[in-house]
Amino acid sequence: MPAQRTPGRSHSYSSPPTFVSEAATPISSRDKDSKRLIVILSQACLETHKVPSRNGGGAQGDRYALLNCDDHQGLLKRMQRDIADARPDITHQCLLTLLDSPINKAGKLQVYILTAKGVLIEVNPAVRIPRTFKRFSGLMVQLLHKLSIRSVNSHEKLLKVIKNPITDHLPPKCRKITLSADAPVQRVQDYVAKLDEDESIAVFVGAMAHGNDDFADEFVEEKIGVSQYSLSASVACSKFCHGCEDAWGIQ
Ligand SMILES: C[S@@+](CC[C@H](N)C(=O)[O-])C[C@H]1O[C@@H](n2cnc3c(N)ncnc32)[C@H](O)[C@@H]1O
Repeated sequence: MPAQRTPGRSHSYSSPPTFVSEAATPISSRDKDSKRLIVILSQACLETHKVPSRNGGGAQGDRYALLNCDDHQGLLKRMQRDIADARPDITHQCLLTLLDSPINKAGKLQVYILTAKGVLIEVNPAVRIPRTFKRFSGLMVQLLHKLSIRSVNSHEKLLKVIKNPITDHLPPKCRKITLSADAPVQRVQDYVAKLDEDESIAVFVGAMAHGNDDFADEFVEEKIGVSQYSLSASVACSKFCHGCEDAWGIQ
């Protein structure tokens, strides 16, 4: 099926953040039958922390920031946390890759985020993720505190915290796999082409800097590699999307 375009909308790096993108016909989270790719960004580091206010604080003066290894080195050290654990930029990069992809614009992609603290987030395929990290951080802090982000125009929820486990949100007929550089390499297009006509595929990708790819062992049937090299999570997502696009005729 050819990819659809939405006339009159274009991505602009300098446009104000409206938080709604050009994804054509997103799959509703209530639709459990249509064949689709579901990506679950796992072990995502999305954690807020209170920033001391300059004027002495008080409830109104409290500000929160997204914990990250560039701005909060001293804090992470005091908390005896590994600096490499605080990498929300990996999730940001993956979201941009996934939501900009042709498979998302064709309405055949759903994305969830499962944070290292166990918070499960549903990403509406129509959300336009801010392109700068600073704006992304602001949006994530708002999401983690308010539990949802609504579109300014339609009041549709663009990001929302939902109940675990992820398996409750997957289609009934759905292959579940983990992407891992430690697993035998398979050609994604061939792997996806072997799915049944009505079978979707859920792919767990590690949105962390390092560590074992055992984050979804309780959910998955198998692990596959997509390259002989160790990739960034964003490139692994991209490779998998391209394989599905090729298998499903999305250009
Ligand atoms: C930077 S890796 C982090 C974990 C990795 N085990 C490590 O210690 O370097 C990010 C994620 O990308 C995916 N990934 C990286 N290389 C891959 C490959 N060759 N095949 C499939 N998935 C890969 C995995 O899901 C992995 O968790």
